[in-house]
Amino acid sequence: MEFPEQPTSPERVFSGVQSTGNLHLGNYLGAIVKFVELQNNYDCLYCVVDLHAITVPQDPIALRNNTREIAAAFIACGIDPKKNIIFNQSQVPEHAELAWVLNCVARIGWLNRMTQFKDKAGKDRENASMGLLDYPVLMAADILLYRATHVPVGEDQKQHLELARDIAQKFNNDFAQSIVRNGYDGGVFFPLPEPLISGPATRVMSLRDGSKKMSKSDASEYSRINLSDDADQIAQKIRKAKTDPEPLPSEEKGLEARPEANNLVGIFAALSGRAKSEVLKEYGGANFSTFKNALVDLSVAKLSPITAQMRRIREDDGYIDQVLRDGSDRARAIARENMNAVKDIVGFLR
Ligand code: AMP
Ligand code: TRP
Repeated sequence: MEFPEQPTSPERVFSGVQSTGNLHLGNYLGAIVKFVELQNNYDCLYCVVDLHAITVPQDPIALRNNTREIAAAFIACGIDPKKNIIFNQSQVPEHAELAWVLNCVARIGWLNRMTQFKDKAGKDRENASMGLLDYPVLMAADILLYRATHVPVGEDQKQHLELARDIAQKFNNDFAQSIVRNGYDGGVFFPLPEPLISGPATRVMSLRDGSKKMSKSDASEYSRINLSDDADQIAQKIRKAKTDPEPLPSEEKGLEARPEANNLVGIFAALSGRAKSEVLKEYGGANFSTFKNALVDLSVAKLSPITAQMRRIREDDGYIDQVLRDGSDRARAIARENMNAVKDIVGFLR
């Protein structure tokens, strides 16, 4: 029996965005802005998760279109596809393969506790797809397939990240002896991935209702700012955003029972790279019409160049498809190696 010594795995960032339409300001501030920052210090993989998208029905033509749209947004926001790996999940079959192994590690009880499943399945849970229940296991597989150490996401994904850590931990425990036998020092194969959830906009709320998160699937276009909106649409949506009758407070504490004010100040802070307290130092005492004007100017200044760049990139689908193919090839090289290690650990012949 040989005892090969395995190199310890490097720090690595992984995150995903579903290929569903209406990419919005919440996706941008909660996730994509962080993706852009992290590329300076880490090896990063950014994945368009089309396998996750089909957990609810998708039109095939729209799905392909949305996959390209998300990839174009990544690039337009400043993610360099040469330096990082941008790819779509379905081109790397090891995601589904590892998900199966992890399905046999995760417990049904863990999945039944997931609040996103309960929200998305609604009242008729029996009629939800099996994939919707299994969604978080596939997400754990995405991350663990690359033995990623850091995962930038919005606040709504926190519970899924905790589950991914539990699955990694249980795999490491269940197969501890085999992991050591295969040369992994300390019996740890999967690092426990750290969620990166920080800043003033980890949960951007609907512009129509400060108690609901901004979402791709909200029926009201006025609930969200899409990355494809032009300056007029952005201005209109912000001007119509729900507020309350009071002027803005001078300190953060004053935002506590004011979800709509809190949301707009959070958006302003995140777009301007400042803390909410600093924004309130400047706008405390101002009424909403003044503040909204400033927010329109800031949003248009920050988002318009991205929207324009996205449009330019979308004119050349051949280029986008090439980026995704190239990224998938590079992702697959890592995935295959790790999946082979999983097969050895679990006891599959190859
Ligand atoms: P999804 O479009 O559901 O795949 O989400 C992609 C990323 O955007 C994930 O990291 C989410 O946590 C993040 N995200 C989605 N909606 C919001 C929101 N309203 N506020 C902050 N982050 C969000
Ligand atoms: N579930 C995430 C969302 O909807 C998307 C996702 C899939 C993801 N796989 C991932 C995020 C892996 C981070 C890491 O927002």
